Amino acid sequence: PFRQRLLVVANRLPVSAVRRGEETWSLEMSSGGLVSALLGVKEFEARWIGWAGVNVTDEPGQKALTKALAEKRCIPVFLDEEIVHQYYNGYCNNILWPLFHYLGLPQEDRLATTRSFQSQFAAYQKANQMFADVVSEHYEEGDVVWCHDYHLMFLPECLKRYDRKMKVGWFLHTPFPSSEIHRTLPSRSELLRAVLAADLVGFHTYDYARHFVSACTRILGLEGTPEGVEDQGRLTRVAAFPIGIDSDRFIRALELHDVQNNIKDLKERFTGRKVMLGVDRLDMIKGIPQKILAFEKFLEENAHWREKVVLLQIAVPTRTDVPEYQKLTSQVHEIVGRINGRFGTLTAVPIHHLDCSLNFPQLCALYAVTDVALVTSLRDGMNLVSYEFVACQDSKRGVLILSAAQSLGAGAILVNPWNITEVALAIGQALNMTAEEREKRHRHNFLHVTTHTAQEWAETFVSELNDTVVEAQQRI
Ligand code: UDP
Ligand code: G6P
Repeated sequence: PFRQRLLVVANRLPVSAVRRGEETWSLEMSSGGLVSALLGVKEFEARWIGWAGVNVTDEPGQKALTKALAEKRCIPVFLDEEIVHQYYNGYCNNILWPLFHYLGLPQEDRLATTRSFQSQFAAYQKANQMFADVVSEHYEEGDVVWCHDYHLMFLPECLKRYDRKMKVGWFLHTPFPSSEIHRTLPSRSELLRAVLAADLVGFHTYDYARHFVSACTRILGLEGTPEGVEDQGRLTRVAAFPIGIDSDRFIRALELHDVQNNIKDLKERFTGRKVMLGVDRLDMIKGIPQKILAFEKFLEENAHWREKVVLLQIAVPTRTDVPEYQKLTSQVHEIVGRINGRFGTLTAVPIHHLDCSLNFPQLCALYAVTDVALVTSLRDGMNLVSYEFVACQDSKRGVLILSAAQSLGAGAILVNPWNITEVALAIGQALNMTAEEREKRHRHNFLHVTTHTAQEWAETFVSELNDTVVEAQQRI
C-alpha cells in the first residue's frame, strides 16, 4: 500500500550518538516525551531530521555518523558548540522553555539574559535555517514536513521561503502560554509570524491553541477565526491534537522475559513495602522538590507508614549545561539527603533517588510493580509518564496522583502540586484506597490510554494537514 512520505523535523533525534572511536559510533535511545510519542508514527514512510546530541567537528566523524544514523532512518543536523550554547542551552532552554511553562526568567540573571538575548535569538534563527537546509536537501515534492516544538518556531517560515508549495505542519509539545506571558518576549512578533507560515499549527489542548490565536490577534493584530488565524486572506489552521502513547508497546513488553525478571527482582526487594514512583526528567517544571517535601510531610504525620512505604524517584538528567538545571540537581540532592537522614534506619531509607535514565524493560517493570505513581508537574504539555504507568498497571491497578487535570483527570487523584499538605493527604488516600475504587479508577484510565494513542494522534495531524493544503488550493 502507498505510504505517505513524512519528514519529521525535531531538535532531538530519537537516538543520541556516543563516539566510540575515530569512525565508530554507538546510538542510544534519547529521553523525553517528544521522542516517545513519535515512535508511534509507524504508518508513514518516515524520516527523521535532527540533532544527534553531539558536537562532531571532523569530516570522517560526520560521515561515519551520518551512515550509522541512516540505518535508523535518521538524518543529522550538525550544530557546533557555539550554536548549541546560544541556541539550545540559551534561547531554547533558558528563555523559551521557562517562559512557556510560566516560570519566568531566572531571577538573578534576568538582566544578563536580557543583554545576551539578541545574540541568542540570532543563533536560534541561524540554527533553524540549518535545519531547513537539511530538510531541503531531502525533500521531494508531495512530502509532508512536520516540524516539532519550541526549538523550531522559525522553521515553517524558512521552509516556505524555500518552496511555497511544501506542506508544512508545526506542533508544540509544551504549553503555549497566555498572550500576557508571550508578550514579555523581545522577539514575540517574529516568532508568531514565523510559525504562521505553516499550513497547520497544532497544540496538545484547546487552551494552548486558544492562547496562540489570541497572541496572534493581540500582538500582531491579525484576525482569529474558529479555524485559525487569518492574514490578508491566507489562513493558518490552528487546532488541538491531544497526544497519546503506543500503549500496545508497553502492554506487550510486560510479557517479555527481561521485564518479568525485573518485576520479580523488584517485588523481592520491596517485599512488605508499598512502592511509590516518580519518573521525571530533572526539570524545574516537574515539581520534584515539592513532591519530595509532600512525601516528607506524609511520613511526618503518619509514623506507622514509615517502615512500610518507599518512594522511588527516577530523575533523568537533562540539559545539564544550563545553570538552572545544575542548581535544581543540588537542591533535590540536599532535600533527599535530609529526609533519608531523618527517617532512614540502619537497613532502609524512605527515598531512593536515582540520577539516571532507565532502559525500556527496567522502566516497564518499575511501572508494573508500583502501587502509587506521583506525577505532580507544576505545568506540563501533556505528560506521558502518567499514560505509560496506566498502560503497565492492568494487573496491579495502582493509583495515579496527578497534578494538571489533563486527559486522565477522572481516574486520578487530582492535586495542586504547589500545595504540599494536599499532596500529602492524597498520598494517604492513595495508599489506603479500597480495591474496588482502584479498579474503577484504573478501568477509566486504561480505556483512555488504549484508545487515545500516539498512532492516532499522528494520523489525525497528518490527514488534517493534507486536507488543509487541499482546501487552501481550492480557495485560490
Ligand atoms: N523516559 C526516558 N528515559 C527514562 C525514563 C523515562 O526516556 O529513563 C521517557 C518516558 O518513558 C516518557 C518520557 O521519557 O516517554 C517523558 O515524557 P513526558 O511527556 O512525561 O515528559 P517530558 O520529559 O517530555 O517533559
Ligand atoms: C520535552 C520537549 C522535547 C525534548 C524533551 C527532552 O519533552 O518537549 O522537545 O526533546 O523534553 O529534552 P532535551 O532537551 O533533552 O531534548
